Amino acid sequence: VRIVNVCLAERSYPIYITHSEIYEFGNCIKEHFKHNQVVIITNPTVDKLYSEVVTNSLKSAGYNVNKFIIPDGEEYKNIEWVIKAFDFLLENKYERQTGIIALGGGVIGDIAGFIASTYMRGVPLVQFPTTLLAQVDSSIGGKVGVNHPKLKNAIGAFYQPKCVFIDLSVLKTLPMEELKNGLTEVIKHGFILDSNFFEYLESRIKLLQELDAGVLLHAVSHSCEIKAYVVHRDERESGLRAILNYGHTIGHCIEQLTHYTRYKHGEAVAIGMVVESLIALKMKMIDREIFERQLGILKKADLPTTFPDLKVEDIIKSMRYDKKVQYGKVRFILPTAIGKVVIRDDVPDQIIVNAIMEMPKTS
Ligand SMILES: NC(=O)c1ccc[n+]([C@@H]2O[C@H](COP(=O)([O-])OP(=O)(O)OC[C@H]3O[C@@H](n4cnc5c(N)ncnc54)[C@H](O)[C@@H]3O)[C@@H](O)[C@H]2O)c1
Ligand SMILES: [Zn+2]
Repeated sequence: VRIVNVCLAERSYPIYITHSEIYEFGNCIKEHFKHNQVVIITNPTVDKLYSEVVTNSLKSAGYNVNKFIIPDGEEYKNIEWVIKAFDFLLENKYERQTGIIALGGGVIGDIAGFIASTYMRGVPLVQFPTTLLAQVDSSIGGKVGVNHPKLKNAIGAFYQPKCVFIDLSVLKTLPMEELKNGLTEVIKHGFILDSNFFEYLESRIKLLQELDAGVLLHAVSHSCEIKAYVVHRDERESGLRAILNYGHTIGHCIEQLTHYTRYKHGEAVAIGMVVESLIALKMKMIDREIFERQLGILKKADLPTTFPDLKVEDIIKSMRYDKKVQYGKVRFILPTAIGKVVIRDDVPDQIIVNAIMEMPKTS
């Protein structure tokens, strides 16, 4: 078991990274869940694949296990399903010490985390992420919440788990589309903060896609370390944590303007990373080689790097409505080198427009 620590004073917690050791889960969480009542929150897809082995491991560690299932899909990450979960927990008389286990991808992690953060003013939470995106990104750092019809992730809280348990073997059942979704965030982590890691990925991205055990372990643990470092430095996103939004300013606009149907999040962010590094190139913050290297690795990972058929004016308009706009200024995270970014809110519209116009178009 490899351990990466998230250091947040009294809210610190470990991320356990294992391979084919789900049976260890129950023992692993013993020091985090003292009470013997636990509820797994999951969806039908993950339930079929992993509930049984997880439940068995919990039972042999002495836990009483119950399960609450939310349908599979982002559209169920809403307040109605939070209330249904509250009904279930209250009907079963679960008290304040009951442990909640979020078993699934980012959708389950976010909603189960939110349920844990509010039920009885907060019950202990363990994240058991089963998608690559959830393992390297959403399960770490305590952002939990649900969507509002008017805005994604509009309702939420910061609520750190007691621990995160990752078993890399669960990625074997993950569709390639979903794996690529998470790869974007792994590549992003290297590109914004760690040039050595970025280089490591440049030569091993195919092995990573093939789930080579050694590469996977290194890439996931290193990615977790980077996310943990950022969260340690800035838990509530008052500064540094915003750098994780690299590629997301444009990425979010693309997702929104294509109604969240055409692209996976990671795909939209990959396009966003290309546009945003092109902006940095136009602002003479990086040279072309850096732009090309990022483009190269995204292509190797089969991520989209061409711009969809969207109107530039609509992109600019949508950018201004994003919740990350502070005091009317659009904030960009821009590279200055591989492994280094800065936060800028003074990018002229014309440069954004030029960068988008210059992007090769999706045919
Ligand atoms: N809290 C944060 O900091 C944070 C960060 C990034 C994203 N998010 C949120 O994460 C969500 C996206 O998460 P996601 O990309 O993991 O999507 P997801 O949770 O929808 O999972 C993708 C699909 O994979 C299936 N699945 C999960 N694990 C599997 C496995 N091991 N084998 C086979 N299928 C499996 C799921 O059932 C689902 O159909 C969004 O709601 C986003 O807002 C949160
Ligand atoms: Zn993201």
